[in-house]
Amino acid sequence: ADLQPLNTFALPVRARWLVTLNDAAQLPDIMALPQFDRQSVLWLGGGSNILFCADYPALVVRVASRGIRLIADDGERVVVEAAAGENWHEFVQYTLAQGWSGLENLSLIPGTVGAAPVQNIGAYGVEVQSCIEAVQCFDLEARQLRWLSCADCCFAYRDSIFKHGEPGRYVIVAVRFGLSRCFTPQLHYGDLAQVVTEQAQGQTLTASMVAQAVCRIRQQKLPDPRVLGSAGSFFQNPVVPAALATSLLDCYPALPHYPQPDGRVKLAAGWLIDQCGLKGYQLGGAAVHERQALVLVNRGQASAADMVALAKHVQDCVAQRFQVQLEPEPVWLP
Ligand code: EPU
Repeated sequence: ADLQPLNTFALPVRARWLVTLNDAAQLPDIMALPQFDRQSVLWLGGGSNILFCADYPALVVRVASRGIRLIADDGERVVVEAAAGENWHEFVQYTLAQGWSGLENLSLIPGTVGAAPVQNIGAYGVEVQSCIEAVQCFDLEARQLRWLSCADCCFAYRDSIFKHGEPGRYVIVAVRFGLSRCFTPQLHYGDLAQVVTEQAQGQTLTASMVAQAVCRIRQQKLPDPRVLGSAGSFFQNPVVPAALATSLLDCYPALPHYPQPDGRVKLAAGWLIDQCGLKGYQLGGAAVHERQALVLVNRGQASAADMVALAKHVQDCVAQRFQVQLEPEPVWLP
């Protein structure tokens, strides 16, 4: 089965077998398939956080279950549940249209609702964990549905129990979000406050207005994966010991840096790559995006090998110049 339309890098790779899951109730049937093997099965959402390095040699299950329902509403706070296969951005827009705030800074992130908790998606100063009440999973070990609380999910920067901890144990089926009718803007990240103010032109600020500003910033910097294949940020922003950050800042005072609660310092990987002169650098059909060096793109004809070679080249350049090891953000498969 062709995976090219199912990965946002649009790499020409194939799956040995592919089935679509439209309803969580089909999970026992899928587990009963002769092709099913818990260790090798790939549960695929929007395909926007995956780098296929080769054909996938086993079963791929595309999670496409839909449905949004209101669980609780006390007039101020609401709890809303969405099925894993719902498109993330469409879901965010739906919540904003109901007058519910909380997810506005996470507008326009590619992928599905079910994939959002896996790497705790984050943008413009907000991580999805701040709105997650609980995640419903199918526990492949116990063969039953269960709810994990936000604390159970062990969320951290681009990380959760679904990514580390016990990968392969849970299939995310639905997510419950706690949202609010009382809007508290979160505008401390980068130039967001400025863009929002320009756009508001004196009107009372709403969550939808913040969402619009976020979309505008993202559209300026990030490629639209339907036009130019990519997986968003290709590397995580590295969190380094304070001593390394201090010595780098001595040489490079402009280095964007964000002190962390544990004393370490998060650096902007995009800036490090940019300083290596790599913006626009091309290797085969793969390239470093011209407007955001943290994003690798498929210029049209990239093979999986091109993408892997470019990623390694970028890592080498940054390691040599800054002694910082960049870790990929997308999952490399198989
Ligand atoms: N920068 C450069 N050159 C570049 C890219 C960035 O100098 O080519 C500088 C910027 O000027 C800025 C700093 O680096 O001072 C940070 O850049 P930016 O605000 O664009 O964000 P980022 O750290 O590169 C992160 C997330 C993005 C998210 C944005 C906004 C990670 C790995 N990436 O990128 O998430 O949208 O912040 O919050 O944490 C994603 O995960 O796929 C993603 C796009």
